Amino acid sequence: MRTLMIAAGLCLVAAASHAQDSARIKEVTATVDAKRIQNAESEPGNWLTHGRTYSEQRYSPLDKITDKNIGELGLGWALDLDTNRGLEATPIVVDGVIFASGPWSVVWAVDGRTGKLLWTFDPEVPRQWGRNACCDVVNRGVAVWKGKVYVGTLDGRLMAIDAATGKKAWETDTLIDRSRPYTITGAPRIANGKVIIGNGGAELGVRGYVTAYDAETGKQVWRFFTVPGNPAEPAENAAMARALPTWHGRWWETGGGGTVWDAIVYDPELDLVYLGVGNGSPWAQQARSPGGGDNLYLSSIVAVRADTGEMVWWYQTTPGDTWDYTATQPIILADLQIEGKTRKVLMQAPKNGFFYVLDRRTGQLISAEKFATVTWASGVDKTTGRPIEIPAARYFSGPAVVFPSAFGAHSWHPMSFNPKTGLVYIPAMEIPGVYNVKDYKYDKRTWNLGTDTLETFTAFPPEVAAGSLLAWDPVKQKEAWRIKYETPWNGGTLTTAGNLVFHGVAKGGKFVAYTADTGKKVWEFDAQTGVVAGPVSWSVDGEQYITVMAGWGGVFSLLGGDAAKATGVRYVGRMLTFKLGGKQTLKPLAELPAIPVPPPLPAHVTEATLKEGSRLYHMNCLPCHGPGAVGAGQIRDIRHTDASMFDSYPQILLEGAFVSRGMPKFDDILSKEEAEKIRYFVQAQAIADHEKRNKVPATKR
Ligand code: HEC
Repeated sequence: MRTLMIAAGLCLVAAASHAQDSARIKEVTATVDAKRIQNAESEPGNWLTHGRTYSEQRYSPLDKITDKNIGELGLGWALDLDTNRGLEATPIVVDGVIFASGPWSVVWAVDGRTGKLLWTFDPEVPRQWGRNACCDVVNRGVAVWKGKVYVGTLDGRLMAIDAATGKKAWETDTLIDRSRPYTITGAPRIANGKVIIGNGGAELGVRGYVTAYDAETGKQVWRFFTVPGNPAEPAENAAMARALPTWHGRWWETGGGGTVWDAIVYDPELDLVYLGVGNGSPWAQQARSPGGGDNLYLSSIVAVRADTGEMVWWYQTTPGDTWDYTATQPIILADLQIEGKTRKVLMQAPKNGFFYVLDRRTGQLISAEKFATVTWASGVDKTTGRPIEIPAARYFSGPAVVFPSAFGAHSWHPMSFNPKTGLVYIPAMEIPGVYNVKDYKYDKRTWNLGTDTLETFTAFPPEVAAGSLLAWDPVKQKEAWRIKYETPWNGGTLTTAGNLVFHGVAKGGKFVAYTADTGKKVWEFDAQTGVVAGPVSWSVDGEQYITVMAGWGGVFSLLGGDAAKATGVRYVGRMLTFKLGGKQTLKPLAELPAIPVPPPLPAHVTEATLKEGSRLYHMNCLPCHGPGAVGAGQIRDIRHTDASMFDSYPQILLEGAFVSRGMPKFDDILSKEEAEKIRYFVQAQAIADHEKRNKVPATKR
């Protein structure tokens, strides 16, 4: 009886504190509106929108933590998020309340002072949809506006959540066709009371577009397609009519691509929204648009009016893209002094390896220079704004090794700009790609690249893949300093008025700080996992905090194979918050289990079976289990599984035994015999790996 009463009392206390939390969140988020976000510069303690302010510079004016006292920076708290999939989100912070998203589009609200989880919102994305995701089931963030939190879900819905309670306010389906493999991983942005969201899916085959919805009601306001549709139907608008003659063939069957999966940046001064447009579907232009053409608006930055979606200008970084050179990468707005004039610029370091400075009123090129190894073009012509291509890179007559690869010289990992140093901090990459045209026929059940995926992702030795933190002077278009790393896929950056740059280093799983002016390493924290997301800084009651989502993931962690494994990264998903004098420590990770000995292959398995198994594997399993079945560990390495697991392939692949764990089924595309062939291929890879690791034959064939 007594215990019951105590339990009931505790419940009441919990309910009361819950009500207090709700009331507080309601109060602090209700007033986040156009005026506040436009004036976000005057609220240094908050991080109100994706890149902190509408300019998305990811610069924090807070200066309590500096390059001088950073030795005292320590962990304030860590919140375990119970996931081993990638964490890519930039949190939003309003008066000490943190909103962030993660795998399967789950959203969390957290008390920033204590790390207490206030609520979790799970949009219940069907796990089978994971098969449509090229690059992990990640989510890069939410938007907050007048008491609501907005998230785009992996399966293409836009959801509004009541910030106070964590309950759904409304949801809308953003997809034009649910039978197409669209995904949403990017953060919505809010401009003039409209929520703007794009999508991904160009690796599998879709037509890209962006939609604006009324933030209060979820009603659609406008939609902008990025590539033309079937020419038998009328063009949607003048922009599509203009793009049409730049396309040939039957691109609309695969979709054409041009997805806007990350950068959507609002410029309240000019009332424009800049869209970073993605690659072609399929990749190989000869398959997509035989006869060439620029294929507008692939790999372009497109400026549209915030209220109508009408196109104002575009700038194409890679005309006739054939390498997956998306221009979706983060966009930063700034006013720079160039040749004695103040220029309103937009900056981007897209996958193609050039750093672009554009006049954001007109889209005119101001300058573009290589910030990484680039072998597809020798430069960018200042008068035409077009790249000067190296013809062999187009792989018309056989495979070509090209820098950068489809992973990009820089991907979605946010870069930041520090107005004090005048430098942009870019997590840059050096990974070659091997491109080769492959017989291509559109099949909506699988990836549609028009290139040999196995070669693209594996035909380079892992040692050549590297990364760096690059401090770039956008006015001089020149490197200021660079920290080189042995492996790519390092973290997004944050820069602060304390002369600091924070970001994650993949190799060894570190979260590191450098001086912003000179690149001197001043602090390091063992994060136990790779940190890829963009960190944020915020303050309450005079205390400055640094918060980051820690959990290696994304496309390179899934299909980087041995190059990804070389980081030695472990997978744990956490939100970490640091402050001066923080003394918390992370729980040590459990030892990895021993790798089981794989069972021998039965005598009837022939080389031909293994070859066909490899083909089927790389067509269907590569995106999640890696080239040659080399899993870097985020999703367990299927070579290192229990011996008995090999007998369960029919149940796993065809009956969906593990769908709830995110392992989709393939009964629409694979027969029982084909599932067997894949199994023998993976088993043979497991045996080869065992022999290599133990330097002894495991089994006789
Ligand atoms: C969209 C991503 C995705 C694709 C594509 C995919 N898998 Fe998986 N697979 C997963 C996930 C997630 C798990 C669960 C891992 C876990 O629980 O740690 C998994 C688990 C498995 C397991 C069980 C491993 C174990 O030890 O528990 C096997 C076997 C497997 N997958 C084989 C395949 C094969 C073969 C293919 C291609 C036909 C394939 N998978 C395609 C995501 C994927």
